[in-house]
Amino acid sequence: MHAAASQSLPDCDKMLHMTSRRRFLGTAAAGGISAASPAFSARSANRYDEIETRVTRRDFKNLHKEDLPTPCMVVDLEIFEKNLRTMADHCRSSGIHLRGHVKVHKSPDIAKRQLALGSIGVTCATVAECELMSHAGISGVLLTRQPTSKNNIGRAIALAKRDPTFATVVDDPLTADWLQEAAAREGMKLRVAVDVFAGLTRHGIEAGEPAVELAKKVNASKNLKLIGLMGYSGGASHTHGWDARKKKSEQDLAGLMESVALARKAGLPVEIVTGGSTGTYNIDSETKGLTELQAGSFVFMDTLYRHVGGKQDQAVYTDFGSALTVMTTVISKRHPRQCTIDAGNKALLRPTDEVKGRPEVKVENQGAEYGILAWTDSDRDFKLGERVDLYPSNLDMSTNVYDRYYIARGEQIVDVWPIMGRAGAAQR
Ligand SMILES: Cc1ncc(COP(=O)(O)O)c(C=O)c1O
Repeated sequence: MHAAASQSLPDCDKMLHMTSRRRFLGTAAAGGISAASPAFSARSANRYDEIETRVTRRDFKNLHKEDLPTPCMVVDLEIFEKNLRTMADHCRSSGIHLRGHVKVHKSPDIAKRQLALGSIGVTCATVAECELMSHAGISGVLLTRQPTSKNNIGRAIALAKRDPTFATVVDDPLTADWLQEAAAREGMKLRVAVDVFAGLTRHGIEAGEPAVELAKKVNASKNLKLIGLMGYSGGASHTHGWDARKKKSEQDLAGLMESVALARKAGLPVEIVTGGSTGTYNIDSETKGLTELQAGSFVFMDTLYRHVGGKQDQAVYTDFGSALTVMTTVISKRHPRQCTIDAGNKALLRPTDEVKGRPEVKVENQGAEYGILAWTDSDRDFKLGERVDLYPSNLDMSTNVYDRYYIARGEQIVDVWPIMGRAGAAQR
């Protein structure tokens, strides 16, 4: 506290301030934390503007996790890189391509790293994500939600004009008509895949004849180029137990496979059959129907995915490591067996989040900026000011509320990657 500020305190407040400060220093010394307390840290890069300037300059020398403002997202680079390699190796050895979904990370840095390891492009949930990725220099962008508004159709066409590798899906003949009309006006050809129902009622044309009829329509449209079919089984991706997941995935994709066979029989060009997820990556590649996977979450993993179980371990899905944490700080500790952290609703804290290294601790939300960690059967406590790392529950939602990933090797920050297109106009 500045001297001027302490002078302006009323007398009784001044005394309280002095005694509580004395008490604080005494407690700190007794607890042996004075040297390591946040205010007395030997490493000094902790002023907001200094960190921002250094991030802009990409100067991360002596910038450590303890210097960062919280709550913030931190990526463990070693685990992240291993996840990318595991998926790339799997795809290579099983003869399937990866066109990973970016909705979970919204980071061109991550997409580029995947492309460098052999990915053939990226899949995106919105036109805005497609624009973001394409403008960042990524080719092979596939929009997995058909554009139906004047705005979205216009942007899809404009994107395809500047990047002929861009493609979109359609699940309705009307959309095919609209896209044909818009592409004809611009005198260009748009790449289109037919989105076939695969268990989620939110999208996909009925499998079999309706899907093939739509594929024929696209193929016959002068300004559209049929590239193949898509089927996304979102229900299978989080089915618990590998065997149950396999069964569900095969059931959900049966209609897609039938449609692919019919389309090929009808002489239609089916260059790609796209679908799949982190949960089914080694199921879909075994079943041998998809030509490419849209898996996204494996880059970081989240707690919902960790509990679906894997082929080796039915209880925990260990194929990919938990590379992303939300770092928080303990800001109050006035009640037994609980403490308060500085992440709440605004940070999308959820009861299904987990504390790194303390799986028994319960996570509760207590307002916009507050969260509670509570425990019953452990004598390990958290300290005031301690940094607590949480594994988020759902990447799509959580990454959307942070602006950057701090990339860490151990405690050292080595890079910062922006999370882009998250809110407002950038997201629409
Ligand atoms: C159409 C589509 N494909 C692929 C994925 C990626 O799945 P995951 O993040 O589970 O790997 C999603 C995720 O919701 C999706 O909506």
